[in-house]
Amino acid sequence: MNSPDGFGIRIAGVGSAVPEKVLTNADFEKMVDTTDEWIVQRTGIRERRVVDPEREGTFTLACDALRGALEDAKLAASDLDLIILGTVTGEMTCPSVACRVADALGAAPAGAFDVGAACCGFVYSINIADSLIRCGRYRTIGVIGADTMSTITDYTDRTLSILFGDAAGAVVVARDDDPSLGCLYQTMQADAALWESLYIPRREQDIPDHDRDNPIRLGCLRMRGREIFKFAVVKMREVIEEALEATGLSACQISRFICHQSNLRIIDSTRQKLGLPPEKFYINIDTHGNSSAGSVGLCFDQLWRAGEVKRGDYVMFVAIGGGLTWSTSVWKL
Ligand code: UT7
Repeated sequence: MNSPDGFGIRIAGVGSAVPEKVLTNADFEKMVDTTDEWIVQRTGIRERRVVDPEREGTFTLACDALRGALEDAKLAASDLDLIILGTVTGEMTCPSVACRVADALGAAPAGAFDVGAACCGFVYSINIADSLIRCGRYRTIGVIGADTMSTITDYTDRTLSILFGDAAGAVVVARDDDPSLGCLYQTMQADAALWESLYIPRREQDIPDHDRDNPIRLGCLRMRGREIFKFAVVKMREVIEEALEATGLSACQISRFICHQSNLRIIDSTRQKLGLPPEKFYINIDTHGNSSAGSVGLCFDQLWRAGEVKRGDYVMFVAIGGGLTWSTSVWKL
């Protein structure tokens, strides 16, 4: 996408944060009726990180991730014009987590707001940031995807508790003189026809009739995994093919596809249908589970720090999640 004044957008720095505490599949074998074998075969997950709610949360992980991205960019929080944060697990609905991060890091009076796009939180947010810089009004934006799904997980429910972990990923994006850099193509889409497949009710009257026989725990995630699986496994391939066609890039030219980590089988099936080798798709679901809006930024930071993606590379971010929402973003780094 070209900006009116012919400038580009650089990913100036990348950061991430995960809690120290590890929950392994063996831990789940003691908590619910499950096995390590079932979890590994059906999801690819072996362990995940979860916060200690006494001292950690979405806010602290988001602060740490953005601090890391600012350090990497060699910028101060006061250089930021805006902070955009994707999450569905903010401690409060007001103020936004983004406002508190801005205050904690010393970014005020930078604008700050949260984006509620579930697992697409990071990809929606980086797309919004790219567009706002391109329109000329902002120069430097902190983008964060952060979720602590452990804080909204019912740990008596084996069908979903085994899936989730906590994480935050962040980037600092900045206006750059090189017009070739930045987001080449982006999509942000949603269809609420399937919203009942994944939702976090706060009021009993919002629970759909078909779900009333299950135990009701307000504030906890409820999911019909098989429905989302079927949707995601088709949609992930479709949106990647659309993005390749729209940019004119071949899959070989994309250094890495950095996809939301919801289930190894979804990513593997997508990759196989596209006829691509395993190394094109970054995977960390085995060690971090599904961290909702945290996952894509966390993957990107791990790749960036390992030198596995670098300046000049093309990468594609892809996410599908609650809403249902889906989003892509193709970048020249
Ligand atoms: O990022 C947000 C978006 N979320 C997703 O993308 C999640 C997408 N969905 C999935 O990843 C998968 O659907 C799950 C991993 C959630 C479930 O895997 P599945 O292969 O679709 O299993 P299922 O729900 O069809 O259940 C198969 C069986 C059932 O038993 P019966 O009815 O066949 O006797 C479940 O009760 O597996 C049982 N089951 C378990 N067994 C052992 C469900 N959870 C477990 C468990 N351990 N943890």
